[in-house]
Amino acid sequence: MEKISKAEVINHLDKEILKSIPLYLKPIENIWQPADLLPRSEEDGFFEQIRELREKAGNLSYDLLAVLIGDTITEEVLPTYETWLSSMLHINEERESGWNQWTRAWTSEENRHGDVLNKYLYLSGRVNMKEMEISTQHLLTDGFDIGTARDPYRSFIYTSFQELATNLSHRRVAQFAKEAGDNLLAKICGNVAADEARHANAYKSFVAKIFEIDPSEMMVAFEDMMRKKIVMPAHFLREKGEAKGATFIHFSEAAQRLGVYTARDYINILLSLIREWGIDSIGNLSEGGEKARDYIMMLPDRLTRLAERIKPQPSYHQYSWIHPQMLKVSEAI
Ligand SMILES: [Fe+2]
Ligand SMILES: [Fe+2]
Repeated sequence: MEKISKAEVINHLDKEILKSIPLYLKPIENIWQPADLLPRSEEDGFFEQIRELREKAGNLSYDLLAVLIGDTITEEVLPTYETWLSSMLHINEERESGWNQWTRAWTSEENRHGDVLNKYLYLSGRVNMKEMEISTQHLLTDGFDIGTARDPYRSFIYTSFQELATNLSHRRVAQFAKEAGDNLLAKICGNVAADEARHANAYKSFVAKIFEIDPSEMMVAFEDMMRKKIVMPAHFLREKGEAKGATFIHFSEAAQRLGVYTARDYINILLSLIREWGIDSIGNLSEGGEKARDYIMMLPDRLTRLAERIKPQPSYHQYSWIHPQMLKVSEAI
């Protein structure tokens, strides 16, 4: 079989991506905006609505609030993701190419996430916004190092995985917010999670298309990303005066402790991708492709054995982001 180049594959894929925009993204006129969910400052009942928002937000646990802030910062460093997607190799650089239209439209949907979450946190009265803003600026400055380089195959594996991970974590925060009686936050996170699910479906469909055309190279890219482990986009998260990535450790431990995003979730996402792409039945693989497939198929069991050994870490970190006087009384540390 004649070998096809990645440039040819991505060029072919561009038309598919163009077609996928109306399938996976919503028309701007119909999609929710942050203003649909938040108190409206031009209305008479604004102060009453804020009072209610603050009262409900007062019931969120320290860990949940920390995870929500970390999630918000992750959303707010969208410029990092857009720059990365725009710098992929082999993409069609014409202004109206499928890829360029997709990237702009995807970014425009994502931009609402940081916006709505940031406004909620500001209104909640529980957050030291300046410290949070410093963390956001640090994370934008530090960027990320996710192991895809500029390779589109690796990048699509990353986005498929990551959109599923964010869908899950926003959904869980929504669930915990609801349990704490904060229905507004539950609605906000539920809406964000629904967007992430559509985005995941889009990126998974791009990978599925590449598997049809260039299975061996796609398999090798999948294997390579899993060997490197899919790191979270905020893995360099820090607070003022801390080393790069120092706060990320506390943030991910809190997510694990709460059950917002766990080692088990990582394995379940991997399993769902293996199923979705029918990895076990993909034919026509080169020797390297076969080896890559073997590695991927064995990985969930190996990771399960490792995950069984993970013990939730106790909480000890006091975030500069959270007003100490605003801790839930029962949890003051
Ligand atoms: Fe998002
Ligand atoms: Fe996303």
